[in-house]
Amino acid sequence: MEIDAQKFDRIARSVFAPVYPVIAGQIIARTGVIRGVCLDIGCGGGYLGAALARTTELFVHFFDPSPEMLAIANRTIAENGLHMRADTMQGEVSSIALPDASVNLVVSRGSIFFWEDLTKAFREIFRVLAPGGWAYIGGGFGSKELKESIESEMTSRNQGGDDFCVKVRQNLGTEMRARFETALETASIASCTILHSEDIGLWLIMRK
Ligand SMILES: C[S@@+](CC[C@H](N)C(=O)[O-])C[C@H]1O[C@@H](n2cnc3c(N)ncnc32)[C@H](O)[C@@H]1O
Repeated sequence: MEIDAQKFDRIARSVFAPVYPVIAGQIIARTGVIRGVCLDIGCGGGYLGAALARTTELFVHFFDPSPEMLAIANRTIAENGLHMRADTMQGEVSSIALPDASVNLVVSRGSIFFWEDLTKAFREIFRVLAPGGWAYIGGGFGSKELKESIESEMTSRNQGGDDFCVKVRQNLGTEMRARFETALETASIASCTILHSEDIGLWLIMRK
């Protein structure tokens, strides 16, 4: 399913804006990765990767299949003065044009729900991870309070329709978690934990 990049970005820059630094903090607290190479898969406008780069010494590859999203990510790189520590790469998660064992931290927020073949994606992510590297992939809004305020704002923008909340429940629910678990098993990736709660959302943490 194609995402309308401009429409998504208007929401990402306003309603979702407080979420990215909170999730970046959670990623750093859990993985401890603060230098080396980071890959933000399905980066959209690049707000998670930029929040990570602002508080670490990481070099960030902003990766997305959509040229329109990458144009916005390039603007984010410029706005944050990150041109020496970031680049954009066009591509799909199923085929990442990076060498084996070259990435210290893979992050991805809100993109996995669009990936067709999770097993292939997990194998490809595991391939690019360096020994000792981490992947933090999934979806969420940082905290229960942020999620509730975003759902309320999205519902009022949608004039009472609750499509957004229904989608969030599907994306962060037990069926999606089961899909992650099945694909991890098929990909034979054992060094993995799933975080799943009302507070944090649904995240898969991979360690190589
Ligand atoms: C809902 S947006 C999330 C953007 C950003 N991560 C954020 O949290 O603001 C989903 C992103 O995933 C990207 N995407 C969709 N299919 C993808 C795939 N197969 N591989 C990599 N990225 C994909 C889309 O182009 C889009 O930018």
